[in-house]
Amino acid sequence: MRLPDRFLWGAATAAHQVEGNNVNSDCWALEHAAPSLFVEPSGDAADQYHRFDQDVRIVADLGLGAYRFSVEWARVEPERGHVSQAVLDHYRRCVEACLTRGIAPVITLHHFTQPRWLARAGGFAAADFPQRFAEQAARVARALDGIALVCTINELNLPVLAAPYFNARASEEQRAAAERALGAPLSAFFLFAGDEAILGNGLAAHRAARDAIRAIRPGLPVGMTLAISEEDAEPGGEAHRDARRERFYAPFLDAAREDDFVGVQTYSRMMSRADGSVGLAGGAVATTMGWEDRPEAVGAVCEWIASRWRTPMVVTENGYVGDDDGRRARFIETAVAGVKQAMMRGADVRGYFYWSLLDNFEWMLGYRQRFGLVGVDRKDQSRTVKPSADIFRAMAERAGQVEA
Ligand code: BGC
Repeated sequence: MRLPDRFLWGAATAAHQVEGNNVNSDCWALEHAAPSLFVEPSGDAADQYHRFDQDVRIVADLGLGAYRFSVEWARVEPERGHVSQAVLDHYRRCVEACLTRGIAPVITLHHFTQPRWLARAGGFAAADFPQRFAEQAARVARALDGIALVCTINELNLPVLAAPYFNARASEEQRAAAERALGAPLSAFFLFAGDEAILGNGLAAHRAARDAIRAIRPGLPVGMTLAISEEDAEPGGEAHRDARRERFYAPFLDAAREDDFVGVQTYSRMMSRADGSVGLAGGAVATTMGWEDRPEAVGAVCEWIASRWRTPMVVTENGYVGDDDGRRARFIETAVAGVKQAMMRGADVRGYFYWSLLDNFEWMLGYRQRFGLVGVDRKDQSRTVKPSADIFRAMAERAGQVEA
C-alpha cells in the first residue's frame, strides 16, 4: 500500500446529493413517500450525472489536486444481479476526466444510499450484506483504473450516533409511509440502521470490501470514513465526553488499524454537560444546521485520533454550512490552520477535502442547506464559483508546499 506522496487538496461530493434521478435507490423511494421524512425530493439534484466533466473542470480551475465522489451502487446494480456495464463505463469516464486534468480521483463505494432491492432485503441487517458489498467493491475495483484512494463506507459510525435522533424526529405517519415505500423496516435505510447491524455486518462488509479491493488492486489504499465531532466537556461533563468517544468512535478507529487510512469527517463540536446532556457550547454561534460554527474542531479531532491511533488520516470532509460566504472563507482558513497545527504536533494527515464542491441535496433537509464552494442554480443548473473557493485555491497553492 502506498498513499500518494503529495498532500491531497480536494473537494468532495456524493452521488445521490449531486447526480440527480437516482431512481433505483432506497433514498429516492423514501423521498417520494407521503408524508415523507424528506422536506423535498432530490429530483435532478445538480445533474452531475451529465455534467461531471464540467464539474471536474471547476475542480481543476480551483487549483485542487483531488476530487472525492461516490459510485452509486443503485445505478451499477439496479436490480439484484443485474449489473449495468454502461454505468460502470460512465464512472470509468469520470475517473478519466479527473486523470486527464491531473486530479486524483478518490471514490466512495457507499455514501448513505443503496439499491432499493437491497433495502427490501434488510439493508445492512441482511445476512448476505457483507458479501454483496464485497462483490460491488470488486466490480468497481476491476472497472476503474487510476483511483488514488477508496473509501468503502461513508461514516459507518453515523447511525450509532444519529439514528436515535432521526428516529425520534420521525412521526408515526412518516415512519409508516417510509416503511411502505421501502417494503422493509425503516432501519433498512442506512441512516436509521441499528447498532448491531452497523457494528456487526457494517464492519464485516467494510473488511470484506477492503480485502476484495486489495486482492484486485494491491497498492490501492482503502479505508472507511467516520463522522467524528470534537468532543468537549463543561466542568463535570468529562466522563460523559469520554463515554461518547468510547461508544461512537473508538470501536471504529480500532477496526481502522488494519486499513491504509481513515477518513476523518468533522463539522463541529459537541459539549457534554455535567447532567449528561450534550449540545452547543455556551455562547456558541450556530450555523443554519444548528451546529456550532467551530472551524477549530477538525484539527482538534486529528490531534485526538493521533493521540491513540497511528492510522494515517485523510480529512475526507469538513465544511461550513450557511449562506454567508465570507464566513465560509474564514472557516476554511481557520480549519486548515488547525489541521496544519495538528500535523506539526505529529498527526499523520495526508489530505484535506472541503465538503462540498457544490451546493447540493442535504438529505432530509433538502436544498436549503448550502455547503458549496460553488453555487448551483437549480433552474438551469448553472454553476457559480463563490469567493470562498478562491480563498481555498490560494490556500491550497500556498499549503501545497506542506509535505505529507
Ligand atoms: C455526509 C454528507 C453530508 C454532510 C453534511 C456528512 O455527514 O457525509 O453527505 O452532506 O455530512 O451534513
